[in-house]
Amino acid sequence: MDLDAKIAELKAAFEKDAATVPAEQLKSRYLGREGRVRDLFVLLKSVPPEQKGAAGQKLNGIKAEFERRVEELGRTKAVAAAAGALDLTLPGRAPEFGRRHPIYSTWDAIGRVFMKLGFDVVYGPEIETEANNFEALNIPLDHPARDGFDTFYVEPPYLVRSHTSPVQIRTLRSRKPPIRVIAPGKVFRPDKPDAGHSPMFHQVEGLLVGPGITFAHLKGVLDLFAKSMWGPATSIRFRPSYFPFTEPSAEVDVSCFICGAKGCPVCKGSGWVEILGSGMVHPRVLENCGIDPEANTGFAFGMGVERIAMLKYGIPDIRRFTENHFAFLKQF
Ligand code: DAH
Repeated sequence: MDLDAKIAELKAAFEKDAATVPAEQLKSRYLGREGRVRDLFVLLKSVPPEQKGAAGQKLNGIKAEFERRVEELGRTKAVAAAAGALDLTLPGRAPEFGRRHPIYSTWDAIGRVFMKLGFDVVYGPEIETEANNFEALNIPLDHPARDGFDTFYVEPPYLVRSHTSPVQIRTLRSRKPPIRVIAPGKVFRPDKPDAGHSPMFHQVEGLLVGPGITFAHLKGVLDLFAKSMWGPATSIRFRPSYFPFTEPSAEVDVSCFICGAKGCPVCKGSGWVEILGSGMVHPRVLENCGIDPEANTGFAFGMGVERIAMLKYGIPDIRRFTENHFAFLKQF
């Protein structure tokens, strides 16, 4: 019996099968417990003892070679299968894009209107002094807003600002009239969270100061603002009000942009929704900042961004803005 001839024969058979037989079958056919390599090992018994060592080595060699070939074939097949799975006609999977939070897109929309009118955007710190947040704004010590329940205090004289109005003070002290700024930012109040209250929310403050500024200018600017935000059919109305830092003061309503002022749940049937507080800057505020109230007058206003966004998108609960629910945020 010629072992070499048998090995050569097996090799030829293996090569032939390798072209058509899947790697797994090839493995069991040649290398399995009843495979063809094993058949050759059985023949080893009849090899004369002095030749056994060399014959065994040859058989181990062929076994190792088949193992390597089977593994190689398996790998090539896997790559080919993966290539076959790549269907170039399938539609692509679109990546998820991030988007602007509804508060910031509302903030942007407000900012765009005033920037077109030449207002600069200025920012103030969220930690303020009691003096800037209250005193300089003519909010006396005994004013109810000074009560600990309405303001987060840090350590005297610092507090967390309860409105963006202190940015008026910073601006009046650092710029000379004519002054034309809006100041967007976060404000904080220790209110119990509910559908209409959040301990943090956003405001946009406005301030315009110069010689000869009148209430008519305030009306004109806010009317233009409302028409730019909600369309040319929008009108505004002023209701007398009180703020310590303005005199006279007014609350401003816009004709309901949800129902066209016909009456709906948003405007509670009245046709009007309140959007901001405003007024003529109190002479004492100008004086506190070193500006002569005889030479300059001005107006100011402050609006809540959440409120405007809620009205714009029909969002019934202010807490939605800070919950980070993906399904909610994806709508905008
Ligand atoms: N600071 C006021 C608030 O937080 C809003 C406000 C009212 C701002 C009248 C103003 C203003 O500038 O003139 O409720």
